[in-house]
Amino acid sequence: MNEPLFRLRCFGCGTCITGSEGKPDFRCSECGDLYEVEYPGWKSRKGPDRPNAGALKWLWRERRCSSEALDHSGVWRFREVLPILESFGNAVTLREGNTPLYHLPRAAKALGIDQLFAKHQGMNPTGSFKDTGMTAALSVAKERGFTWVACASTGNTSAAMAAYAARAGLRSLVLIPEGKIAWGKLAQSMDYGAVTCQLQTDFDGCLRLLTQIVKQAHIYLLNSVNPYRLEGQKTPAFEIAEALDWNVPDHLIVPGGNLANSSALGKGFREMVELGLVARMPKITVVQAQGANPLVRSFAAGNAPLEPVEAHTRATAIRIGNPASWRKATKTIQDSGGWCLDVTEAEFAIAKAELGAEGLGCEPASAVTLAGLKKLKAQGKVASSETVVLLLTGHTLKDADFTIGFHRGTLLDAAETVGVEQEIQKLQRNAQVVEASVDAVLATLKGDLG
Ligand code: F0G
Repeated sequence: MNEPLFRLRCFGCGTCITGSEGKPDFRCSECGDLYEVEYPGWKSRKGPDRPNAGALKWLWRERRCSSEALDHSGVWRFREVLPILESFGNAVTLREGNTPLYHLPRAAKALGIDQLFAKHQGMNPTGSFKDTGMTAALSVAKERGFTWVACASTGNTSAAMAAYAARAGLRSLVLIPEGKIAWGKLAQSMDYGAVTCQLQTDFDGCLRLLTQIVKQAHIYLLNSVNPYRLEGQKTPAFEIAEALDWNVPDHLIVPGGNLANSSALGKGFREMVELGLVARMPKITVVQAQGANPLVRSFAAGNAPLEPVEAHTRATAIRIGNPASWRKATKTIQDSGGWCLDVTEAEFAIAKAELGAEGLGCEPASAVTLAGLKKLKAQGKVASSETVVLLLTGHTLKDADFTIGFHRGTLLDAAETVGVEQEIQKLQRNAQVVEASVDAVLATLKGDLG
């Protein structure tokens, strides 16, 4: 009999089950931990049976010139490393992935780093990295005959899920914390036809509730506790390596919320090493907002079990106090030799404006990466000669209120800006109300024209 291509392995106790044996909440029946997709064939296949790394690299690049929808996807282009569907014909794609890796020359110069890049996952179809995971897990839902899918979200997962469900002709249920997500994201899930419930609780409360709901109703859970989400979210790691001619950067810096993304990227690099596609992993560092930093606290306490916190940050995407994937993220940081740190509201607001001034808008949660890099550099943990990739997770238009507030000077309060008032002032570009005349417009340039 053929060996199944994949199985689910419990991250806590190692118990393995088949894909169809998972419970609706994707928790292990033995110990309650999360599963990870594992491909046993890769380990047993030695010698000529082992996937040929050179051939895979060639095939994945060739597919970019193909006219097939699946080949245009930056996720399914790498389908040999995520054989999670019975038939790839069931894949639901919006041509996600294939996002740009931008050079950041001004930030690099300011920091004294030779090679600094931003992998902009905000350039995905619904404007965030969630699309890469959603195409994978929603395709599994469709293949298994589900008619309803659901997620709890801080806004981006719900936007992605609603869009992919609409494409597949499935119904979707969104639970979001009332008043705590950016309007752009709420607008998306409404537009894509989801049943959107704003609950008077936080993200963690929404996820708790949804976990109970999926045990009672035949609804497929699409939060990142679903291990197939991570299979899609690992593919940007392959893209980064490919864009650097299969040379791995020295550092990859990722924002941390529910901590699935850092875990998925770590899995991607680990598998690339296993398959002989790259020589090593980058150091993967997770950056959290200071007001939502449970993993930072766990590291500070010598890798103590994670204690949930009440989360407060204007980076609403990562306003999460009880992250589901903290054990996986801890392993990624430890295996790779990276760090876990936090940054203040002012630090990531400044970093976001600096990225914007370099032509790369992003949402607030994404900017914690540049703010974190500044700290790592100051602490001597990043050398000038090293290559650094920041993972920008969301598009700037997701949360225009934050950006406008920053430039108008209404975002941060006085206590938060102590010591950085001038830095902020230099970056602020408030829109001005100007009389409709040539002279008045030219006068606003005040000699800047030279
Ligand atoms: N950046 C953005 C823009 C996000 O939307 C999220 C998570 C993260 C970073 C953190 O990623 O959770 O894998 O550590 N947003 C989720 C949501 C929770 O519901 O959209 P993570």
